[in-house]
Amino acid sequence: MKFFLDTANVDKIRYFADMGLVDGVTTNPSLIAKEGRDFKKVIKEIVEIVDGPISAEVTALDSDTMVKQAKELSKIHKNIVIKIPMTKDGIKATHIVAKEGISVNMTLIFSAAQALLAAKAGARYVSPFVGRLDDISHIGMDLIASIRAILDNYDFDCEIIVASIRNPLHVVEAAEMGADIATIPPDVMDKLFNHPLTDIGLEKFMKDWESAFGK
Ligand code: E4P
Repeated sequence: MKFFLDTANVDKIRYFADMGLVDGVTTNPSLIAKEGRDFKKVIKEIVEIVDGPISAEVTALDSDTMVKQAKELSKIHKNIVIKIPMTKDGIKATHIVAKEGISVNMTLIFSAAQALLAAKAGARYVSPFVGRLDDISHIGMDLIASIRAILDNYDFDCEIIVASIRNPLHVVEAAEMGADIATIPPDVMDKLFNHPLTDIGLEKFMKDWESAFGK
């Protein structure tokens, strides 16, 4: 399973990339806005840190401008993946740019039907948002199982990015279900490390060592 980092914070990307844990990065307009920095500059820094798919999102709503932005952004680096929202215009733009060899990550996917449309239009990745479904009392992870089953039935060249991850269990369940990728916010990445028995065990090892051999 691949781990992407869901952030536009270059320090956090570097921190986890140094541990070999980052296969790619996803950004969105909210994450870029949070950093308060120039969009293209941030993306250029990220591609220098991580040698893998880096998602940069279009901000247009009409297909013509989406295509224009997709072409501009994809010129930044060969690893750029264009994030396009799941709308009719988004599907049209995906169909156009995918034919030209631009990889698309179709975002804001909330149903299996939407994922199927995205894969058919040529999206290289689909991003179902599990946390936002949980937020409205739907079981987000059920959607991953459904999309996994659909993509496995056919020959789509399309990977599932589990997005809107809120906790470590989302990551574990995504792995159990065979999702290709989890895009993980830095705070959830941190939580993946934690187990109290690890801390207790390490403390005891250190104490026993110290009482036998000193500091
Ligand atoms: C990633 O592709 C998404 O933009 C992101 O995971 C959304 O997460 P959120 O629902 O926590 O904003």
